[in-house]
Amino acid sequence: METLKLNLSRTLGFISPAEISALKPEMERYNRMLHDKTGKGNDFLGWVGLPSSITASQVEEIQDAAHGLASLAEVVVVIGIGGSYLGAKSVIEALSDSFEMLKAQRTAPLVLFAGQNLSEDYMCELLDVLKNRSIAVVVISKSGTTTEPAIAFRIFKAEIEARYGKAEAAKRIVAVTDANRGALRTLATQEGYKTFVIPDDVGGRFSVLTPVGLLPLAAAGIDIRDLVRGAVDMEKATCPDAPFEANPAMQYAAARNALYRKGRKVEILASYEPKLQYIAEWWKQLYGESEGKEGKGIFPASVTLTADLHSMGQYIQEGERMLFETVIHVEKSSHSVMVEPDPANLDGLNFLVGKSLTEINHKAEEGTAMAHVDGGVPNLRIELPRIDAYTIGALLYFFENACGISGYALGVNPFDQPGVEAYKKNMFALLGKPGY
Ligand code: PA5
Repeated sequence: METLKLNLSRTLGFISPAEISALKPEMERYNRMLHDKTGKGNDFLGWVGLPSSITASQVEEIQDAAHGLASLAEVVVVIGIGGSYLGAKSVIEALSDSFEMLKAQRTAPLVLFAGQNLSEDYMCELLDVLKNRSIAVVVISKSGTTTEPAIAFRIFKAEIEARYGKAEAAKRIVAVTDANRGALRTLATQEGYKTFVIPDDVGGRFSVLTPVGLLPLAAAGIDIRDLVRGAVDMEKATCPDAPFEANPAMQYAAARNALYRKGRKVEILASYEPKLQYIAEWWKQLYGESEGKEGKGIFPASVTLTADLHSMGQYIQEGERMLFETVIHVEKSSHSVMVEPDPANLDGLNFLVGKSLTEINHKAEEGTAMAHVDGGVPNLRIELPRIDAYTIGALLYFFENACGISGYALGVNPFDQPGVEAYKKNMFALLGKPGY
């Protein structure tokens, strides 16, 4: 499997191999608990065996629905928030051309997002840009009652019905929601929308490999078969029978918990590929919502480098030493740009002639890792051979599995999010919702 490797060599000055090995029994027990469903939150462990349980006919049904939307619309608006948004957004960003939006020739509809905020400007500007483009909507909400996507869907339902009439609107709207419960399920049944089910035992932030992620990705023209294949291979590589030493998820969970126990309270996920910026946003939700409770948890932060070396670099190098850094290294890029000679050499860069941007980027990465380690920041490195659907599928499952293990190592239930309700209660009271 040419997918993902974890390199802990730059953590050695901070945690010893013996300290990592000492955590082996603990990590093995927690991984086993995930698979045996014997730990906290065990009614939300449907994601554990999810990749290998996805059938060809499920994938086909998703592809068919995506093709149906693509045949009707230039733009598919995906409505959702949190776990019903970040998985699809992050994979589309990772696997699409960076300037997809400006491309004249498209083979798949453009996928845009709504319902992930309450900004009036965002909504108006989105509606405005869609005025002369044909549209379809994928509305995603497990509960079916989340305020942000529910408001956005109310607006888009009205827009689609006004444009195409109610019968045609029903062909242009697909709902992804609970099998039986919730306002969205009721509405979808009433209006005759095509629907996909979010399994009961898969929480929002672990749902990227369900139709929550797969339908928008298929609509964007992404090869979801390859994505699932990568996740299946990672499911095998991280199973409880895979030896601790060769199990990247258990190694990652062990290293980050060893560091946390030594006072490293903030983990920065760093990448030198801007395409991975939203993977970091997805990761922040996964780890933040899973671990941040009961006064515990590693705070997940992220940077995109080298850009953020010119903004956050100072703090990482010399600020408070409660950080560690996990770098996603990408070995090969998909394109080639070389530095060409310039006879005047006013910028003094002729020493780089013949080098590709990737070679330079890799040296920047190596130099930064050395500097950060010297500055007292342990560095973990996740190594990807390249960015494609297969490796991203593997990366997603790797992070999910390690997150479950890490949450158990912290002693929390990694699969609930009771704290998320607090803002909602205040907001509803302030807005005068009956009963609040
Ligand atoms: O991880 C989670 O559970 C949350 O982020 C939810 O996905 C998010 O709040 C959206 O919920 P819903 O899908 O019910 O609209």
